[in-house]
Amino acid sequence: MAFDPSALVLSAVAEIRSLVGGERIISAVSGGVDSATATAIAWRAVGNSLHAVFLDTGFMREGEPEEVVSEFRKIGINVEIVRVSDRFYRSLSGISDPEEKRKVFRREFYSVLSSLARERGCKFLLQGTIAPDWIETKGGIKTQHNVLEQIGIDPEREFGFRVLEPLKDLYKDQVRVVAHYLGLDYFARRQPFPGPGLLVRVPGALDLDRLRVLRRATSLVERYLQAYSTQCLASVFSGIKGSAKTPIGDGQILSEGATGVMGDSRAFGAVISLPLEAYRRETVQELSPFMADNGITRVLVKLIEKGEGYAVVIRAVLTEDFMTADVPMIERDVLMDLANKIAEIDGVGSVHYDITPKPPATIEFE
Ligand code: XMP
Repeated sequence: MAFDPSALVLSAVAEIRSLVGGERIISAVSGGVDSATATAIAWRAVGNSLHAVFLDTGFMREGEPEEVVSEFRKIGINVEIVRVSDRFYRSLSGISDPEEKRKVFRREFYSVLSSLARERGCKFLLQGTIAPDWIETKGGIKTQHNVLEQIGIDPEREFGFRVLEPLKDLYKDQVRVVAHYLGLDYFARRQPFPGPGLLVRVPGALDLDRLRVLRRATSLVERYLQAYSTQCLASVFSGIKGSAKTPIGDGQILSEGATGVMGDSRAFGAVISLPLEAYRRETVQELSPFMADNGITRVLVKLIEKGEGYAVVIRAVLTEDFMTADVPMIERDVLMDLANKIAEIDGVGSVHYDITPKPPATIEFE
């Protein structure tokens, strides 16, 4: 039977009303379609008893908090921006393991929400958790920041609120259908952005200067490559740490590693950049035995090398379900125009394009 958004909204509204009674709900919106849809449903259910907040964790894109709040205002929902970047930066300082970074992010996220809920008198937390979030977290594939009960955490005991997850059995395409049904076109159109935001695009230990470069590079990538991809992003590595011979020519190894997928689990490996001649659809396939033997999860091609400095990686993917993804073979001229703009950012030493599909790479870098 075809998915019916009106039935889902009706039953979710009824369920929220019966669960919360007259209590207040806090909702953390991210600007993504999942939390926006959950929030719009809860708004229908309880109106002003819903208190929406946007946590500015310090890992948002340029102008993002203000833009998201203004889009919510257009649909009649007020959102409070809560600036908490300092405490996120402090807690994450010196942590380089990708899963550990995600776990620290999650801990800070909920501890901020727990204090806010208490201060604002909210007994419930509304989340936009969808099926892949808890499936991947439970399966040990990657820790999503918004999963609690499904991994045995009792939110009431730990944080003082009960959790409402009206979308927890849905997949992304179904959420988009519900979003359009509710008139949330701006949110349904936005490309996915991970909960921990730009944190997972600064590989290794957090570095605020790399984060500054990343914010600028992300804006440029989105401006240039949105039309060519389902999702496009940037990542900023400290630089290049060495060279390596491969069966199809010499490459450079980036200073940090990045995640990939092996079978059903997440793997962590090295990132290699090849000369631009390797920019062909077949390259990764040809290199795959070498990658497996040498623990390499990503293959890039180098667009520009200025000298010492950060290595910025551009990533664009085409995907239906985000479980697998292809890399679009974007014309070189477009990539070079974008790379030249990125190279103007202070501190950038080289710019690369990631040509690895998922698998063997993941979409994000951590
Ligand atoms: P990966 O990197 O696993 O990404 O290939 C698949 C899709 O999921 C998004 N993503 C996340 N979304 N919280 C989210 O809400 C997260 O922690 C998270 N990590 C990855 C990613 O942007 C891509 O669309």
